[in-house]
Amino acid sequence: MSEWTAIILAAGQGKRMKSALPKVLHPLAGLPMIHYVVEAAMGAGAREVVVVVGHGREPVVSYLEATFGGRVRVAIQEEQLGTGHAARCALPQLPPEARGTFLLYGDTPLLEASLLRRLAQAWEARPGAPLAMVTCLLDDATGYGRVLRGESGDVKAIREQRDCSAEEAAVREVNPGVYLFSTDFLREALPSLKAQNAQGEYYLTDTIEMAAPRGLATVLGDAGQLRGINDRAQLDEAEEELYQRVAARWRREGSTIRRGARIEATVELAEDCTVEHGAVLRGKTRLGAGARIDVGSVVEDSEVGAGAVVKPYSVLVKARVGAGAQIGPMAHLRPGSEIGEEAHVGNFVETKNTVMHRGAKANHLAYLGDGEIGEGSNIGAGTIFCNYDGFQKHRTRLGARVFIGSDSQLVAPITIGDGAYVATGTTVTRDVPADGLAIGRTPQQNKEGYASRLRGRLQAQAQAAKGAKGG
Ligand code: UD1
Ligand code: MG
Repeated sequence: MSEWTAIILAAGQGKRMKSALPKVLHPLAGLPMIHYVVEAAMGAGAREVVVVVGHGREPVVSYLEATFGGRVRVAIQEEQLGTGHAARCALPQLPPEARGTFLLYGDTPLLEASLLRRLAQAWEARPGAPLAMVTCLLDDATGYGRVLRGESGDVKAIREQRDCSAEEAAVREVNPGVYLFSTDFLREALPSLKAQNAQGEYYLTDTIEMAAPRGLATVLGDAGQLRGINDRAQLDEAEEELYQRVAARWRREGSTIRRGARIEATVELAEDCTVEHGAVLRGKTRLGAGARIDVGSVVEDSEVGAGAVVKPYSVLVKARVGAGAQIGPMAHLRPGSEIGEEAHVGNFVETKNTVMHRGAKANHLAYLGDGEIGEGSNIGAGTIFCNYDGFQKHRTRLGARVFIGSDSQLVAPITIGDGAYVATGTTVTRDVPADGLAIGRTPQQNKEGYASRLRGRLQAQAQAAKGAKGG
């Protein structure tokens, strides 16, 4: 049985974002805005969460279903008639046994579960109160509902800015939109709301005045985590704050995160990692203990093993790097790259759908696509796996301890046996047996004294051409 449940209002369009994407799906540090609010509610003990959707709801619903499954229910508000109306749309979805209902807005992603837990404590400390709410103090209260208190200091009402007198508008204590309602009170109050105000909307905030005679609990929250996102400038500020939180968390866990590194909320780091300035870690990226991601590298949905080093300006997407491997600088590991332990992938090397076994090396300038490279093999500079014939991709297979001389092309499908050599500059079109040597070059000729004869001839030609122009 769950004591707490939650409603999150997210049916508004978010006009000020000027975006085709619904506001609550805008990503911050790798997760959509709504994700943070759902997590905060769950973190505070709400076993299930009802999200009220309306405008552009399909992608919002798909995201919630895919991410939270049955723990999130959806309520539809066909027409956006105000926050009170939106909350009312959620009532049929509330589990009957929930004693208290957190009511939150979908556009406050900085909200933390700890504040909601404080709110629950404040509510418990005031028996009989129909609700508890967070308030906060702002220097500039523009756009927020003002908190009006009576003689005794108790909250009497919330007045929306548009309905405020000049005196009320001067109040700096505002409503950030974070409440914990007695579920019974919510069921009783919402259907009786009237849309008699400047916007002609059903205001959730009118329930405060209804509750006031029975007394309500308030908690003063920190303005920093209560900011609502209405436009892209606020989105940017909030995202910056989230990146700081993520970095602070990994620092506490024992990693060095330089300023200006960007680690998305979905990334996991083992202890003692280093993430340098300007490095970006995205998606399902995982770093093993002591891994180091150097300046300017972008690592997305990839695993980097313990003690591995990704040198500056490398790009990894859906790649796996084994323990102790070295990547870059300026390497590009594309999806399906599996780089073994202690292997090296150097500058201007691109890999795709290629397995490199333990200790293999490709230190300079290569394209290694659709291949398998055996343990301890060495790929010389300028090597190309010619994997594509214009219609199909083919595989290149190298055994263990193979040596590929520089500037060689391996025309797939092709297999090179253990310990074989490919001489520099060879175009390999037939399989090479284990321990064999493939060499395919025109034999070299040396012509003695030829260079000075050649220079003399070229010089004479140049002078003749100059004389012809001058005359
Ligand atoms: C609301 C509060 C205000 C508070 C402010 C905090 C009301 C009447 N006012 O004002 O006191 O200071 O938030 O940011 O509640 N929504 C729906 N359906 C609707 C209308 C809104 O789902 O019909 C959702 C929106 O998607 C949004 C949230 O409710 O997530 C808040 O709506 P918004 O229009 O931003 O309210 P504010 O004017 O900011
Ligand atoms: Mg708002």
